[in-house]
Amino acid sequence: MRKTITATSRGLMIDSFPYRLYQKAKKVGTWNPATIDYTKDAEDWGILSIGQKNSILRLLSQFQAGEEAVTLDLLPLIMAIAKDGRIEEEMYLTTFLFEEAKHTEFFRTVLDAIGEKGELNPLLTDTYKQVFHVILPTAMERLITDQSPEAIADAATVYNMFVEGVLAETGYFSFYKSLEKSKLMPGLLEGVGNLKRDESRHIGYGTFLLQRLICEHPHIYDDVVMKRMEELTPLAFKIIDEGFQEPDLEAFDNEPDEFVNFAMKQLKVRMEILSRARGKKIEDIYKTTESDVGVY
Ligand code: MN
Ligand code: FE2
Repeated sequence: MRKTITATSRGLMIDSFPYRLYQKAKKVGTWNPATIDYTKDAEDWGILSIGQKNSILRLLSQFQAGEEAVTLDLLPLIMAIAKDGRIEEEMYLTTFLFEEAKHTEFFRTVLDAIGEKGELNPLLTDTYKQVFHVILPTAMERLITDQSPEAIADAATVYNMFVEGVLAETGYFSFYKSLEKSKLMPGLLEGVGNLKRDESRHIGYGTFLLQRLICEHPHIYDDVVMKRMEELTPLAFKIIDEGFQEPDLEAFDNEPDEFVNFAMKQLKVRMEILSRARGKKIEDIYKTTESDVGVY
């Protein structure tokens, strides 16, 4: 028989990092994709060059498919955390899933507003599909039958460190690089700004979770996290590179190297935080601050 956690003198760990993230999500995670004005986006879409359109549409397709995938695949992690009795973490994760659903709504709303209602699947490359439609669901669905610390760490490495921390962050950077200077598609940029802030909490939670697991089981750093990242990193380069093989990607004067460097910088910072978790006390990991992990 299970014992209650919060109807005791323990209560809720209100100073813990996951609980603080939960409070923050209730405050700043409530923006609404349905109330953003996309009128100028639709006008801009009519005057962009074919090359610029293809370039933005490729990015939008990747985000539409990507937000859908992370919405569909998060549930087994929430279940594993709940089964482990990590109540504050589960409370935070309820906001996480809500936000991913909202991100799926957001990109679909943009696509509909600019009149792109057709088939977008052909714009996704094989490497992209390998990550989002094979590697991600496999790592997440494993948690349905295996809730070991190793399986949870592997899932968080694929989902939070790689898909969110490397691929999505690099994608936002591309939107800004392409649209901000030219003041194009302000509704899209407004939503992406909100989304980026939500993602900073998601990645912050993933970094906390991995630090906790590494602190409790130090072998996880080399045997699970490093091993998985070594396998995934070349796929990030391939996805960025494949996006640049099309001639129309010159439309915005972007250079692939800039994006590869950006992706690698993101990754390096987080891997350094994780490597330090091996020598830390668990109490200190719960005291992680928002700025330690880039939550704003
Ligand atoms: Mn998202
Ligand atoms: Fe996310």
